[in-house]
Amino acid sequence: MDKLRIRGGVPLEGEVYVSGAKNAALPIMCAALLTAEPLALGNVPQLMDVRTMAKLLRQMGVEASPLADGRMTLRAARITDPTAPYDLVKTMRASVLVLGALLARGGRARVSLPGGCAIGLRPVDQHVKGLQAMGAAITIEHGYMNAAARSPERGLHGARIVMDMVTVTGTENLLMAATLAEGTTLIENAAREPEVVDLARCLVAMGARIEGAGSDVIRVQGVRSLRGAEHTVMRDRIETGTYLAAAAATGGRIRLHGAAPETLDATLEKLREAGARIRINGSTVELEGGGRPRAVSVRTAPYPGFATDMQAQFMALAAIAQGSAVITETIFENRFMHALELQRLGADIAIQGNSAVVRGVERLQGASVMATDLRASAGLVVAGLVADGETIVERIYHLDRGYEALERKLSGLGARVARVG
Ligand code: EPU
Repeated sequence: MDKLRIRGGVPLEGEVYVSGAKNAALPIMCAALLTAEPLALGNVPQLMDVRTMAKLLRQMGVEASPLADGRMTLRAARITDPTAPYDLVKTMRASVLVLGALLARGGRARVSLPGGCAIGLRPVDQHVKGLQAMGAAITIEHGYMNAAARSPERGLHGARIVMDMVTVTGTENLLMAATLAEGTTLIENAAREPEVVDLARCLVAMGARIEGAGSDVIRVQGVRSLRGAEHTVMRDRIETGTYLAAAAATGGRIRLHGAAPETLDATLEKLREAGARIRINGSTVELEGGGRPRAVSVRTAPYPGFATDMQAQFMALAAIAQGSAVITETIFENRFMHALELQRLGADIAIQGNSAVVRGVERLQGASVMATDLRASAGLVVAGLVADGETIVERIYHLDRGYEALERKLSGLGARVARVG
């Protein structure tokens, strides 16, 4: 299994281009299920999760062109098998995003329950509750959710849905389902994440009638059918934040092109608090680290709060900062696995419930560490880049799921990284 070898201690310097956002591309690919016409996408990142989603859609009868230069065309002329099988869902939970679109288009879906997940329980009860309110009958049998609309002809109907908690893919599933439902759907306590807004933009280009995406109430007026469209996927705010955190941690100076700084307020504010100087010019973000960072505490929250997907990278930053920081995770109950690995690099971290108290140390020392999920791996890479000597991050496949051309981009910034067998 491939590993990433990092020889740390080099401040990152240089320029890097931000890729398309994984968490926008995945739901947008599922939107192709809503129409028989082609959906032409641009800025799709070359990632394992994107390949898995294309594989899943192909199994359902969707024609998916190979991804080239960030472009991919999906055409669901006919859905031959509305099933998301366990072997794909277990490798990528985002597979559950096909549920709403399949139900809306053909009145039927069979989606495996995702099962255990490294970062917490992550149930799908809110997806199910919302679709039931729209008239779907959902039963669980043999580990699968079997969902059916009233009838294929009558499909789903609009409903007022109040989500119990903010869920990103839950909101996206219901949003897609509502586009073809009969009447109006109100999604209250909706996720406000920029990726939800990007999905809504794509759906509107396909002919959907949506208001309020980006706020906590989304109103959808169902239409009879959707058409093909072209859409360019937004830039990845978490990838952007990861490189910025790495530059701040190493005391480097980097310029990121093609970023979406308006989606990064909470991260940029925390990096400034850590002592980094940040300049924004349109879609270019420049960060200059100011020596050893100052400790900054963060508390994760739904957007526009501090992203849980940036928590591990900030824990790595806190590990070498001056002073102590408290990192509080409020979204996922088990998202501190990187803390134990950071300790192997010499970090001083004490976990108390959903908080980690991190006392900054002057130096980390390279060691072998094991990644448990995508963002945990990103945190370990940030730590490896500052640690003395060699750090080996095992299970690099987690990083391949969500970071396009990671070694190439990091090498371009002067980091000494290599993929080793
Ligand atoms: N939740 C429920 N019931 C539900 C849905 C969610 O209890 O029906 C709970 C979850 O257990 C969790 C919280 O609600 O405690 C929030 O989960 P959410 O549904 O928002 O997460 P998600 O939609 O499964 C997306 C991203 C994650 C990101 C989270 C939070 C995609 C494909 N995934 O997951 O990204 O961490 O939102 O922002 O959009 C990643 O990219 O590494 C990643 C994990």
